[in-house]
Amino acid sequence: MSTVDKLLRNVISKDETNGNKVTIVGVGQVGMACAFSILTQGVSNDIALIDMMEDKLKGEMMDLQHGSTFLRNAKIRASKDYSVTAGSKLCIVTAGVRQREGESRLDLVQRNTDVMKFIIPKLVKYSPNTILLIVSNPVDLLTYVAWKLSGLPKNRVIGSGTNLDSSRFRFLMSEKLGIAPTSCHGFIIGEHGDSSVPVWSGVNIAGVRLRDVNPKIATEIDDEGWAAVHEQVVQSAYEVIKLKGYTSWAIGLSIASLAHAILTNASSVHAVSTLIKGEHGIEHEVFLSLPCVLGAAGVTDIVRQPLTDVELKALNKSAELMANVQEELKL
Ligand code: NAI
Ligand code: 2OP
Repeated sequence: MSTVDKLLRNVISKDETNGNKVTIVGVGQVGMACAFSILTQGVSNDIALIDMMEDKLKGEMMDLQHGSTFLRNAKIRASKDYSVTAGSKLCIVTAGVRQREGESRLDLVQRNTDVMKFIIPKLVKYSPNTILLIVSNPVDLLTYVAWKLSGLPKNRVIGSGTNLDSSRFRFLMSEKLGIAPTSCHGFIIGEHGDSSVPVWSGVNIAGVRLRDVNPKIATEIDDEGWAAVHEQVVQSAYEVIKLKGYTSWAIGLSIASLAHAILTNASSVHAVSTLIKGEHGIEHEVFLSLPCVLGAAGVTDIVRQPLTDVELKALNKSAELMANVQEELKL
């Protein structure tokens, strides 16, 4: 009789699933920041990691497993074989190349489209009911690619979009106002990155719109330099990449907040990339960020945000840009 048999009388075989399984594809800087945020915040305690670099994958898995005592009964698995992902409620895709200094997100598009072609069908094969959350860049275009490749309904294919840009915006606003970021309310919509659109008309503190307090805010005649807050948001990633080579912690935290909304069926509102054909006069089949209600079914609603002419024009320009790049994509 083995030690286990001497110690335990087996009653019934164990259920191997926790019901909140999350797969993370890509164990680079972003994937691991997502895994760490999700595990340490208790968003999920059942994680499967996938990558092509076997040693790195095993090393990251072991390193996290060695912290299990400090987590909540976490099950952490890793493999090159996608069967390890079976039954995931949420699959987060962070695999692919990242920008080098001086490169834009759009420069990565065909290389990372080819990565999606490899990954997405396998994820859907093992988790046909999953929600896909795309993080790899350029995130809006790759979310479109993932939607096309997966055959999943539009509500179940989401891009992390401007959730991160909105957080950067609220942080920078908080520095200017001396108020906590959580109490500074505002959304960045449109493309994650260079053509993102700040919705200044809705920025508020406790429901008090800054544009009512100061009608010139972030306009051409603003003498307080508020437009620079958005310019800093756009430059943020370039600056961090120049300084440390990549961005990771903020996107990891941002993904954990989206995963929490989905896994707890929270119906909370987040700026994420979704199919926006038909919204704000956009006729192209493109994914861009708008404030969305997120729950167990993915995107259940898009908030009908009133936009000014300037904001509408900027959003339509982003949509045009996405559609033009999509035409050239080899899917
Ligand atoms: P990284 O180079 O550190 O990691 C990428 C990982 O993907 C590597 O471990 C690599 O082996 C893996 N990979 C590549 N092809 C694969 C495949 N076919 N199957 C499985 N794994 C594969 O890069 P990092 O810094 O983690 O960035 C990942 C992506 O996330 C980049 O595209 C980056 O631009 C994007 N990103 C997006 C953000 C957003 O807000 N949407 C924020 C920060 C980064
Ligand atoms: C970021 O905004 C590079 O998209 C990445 O941090």
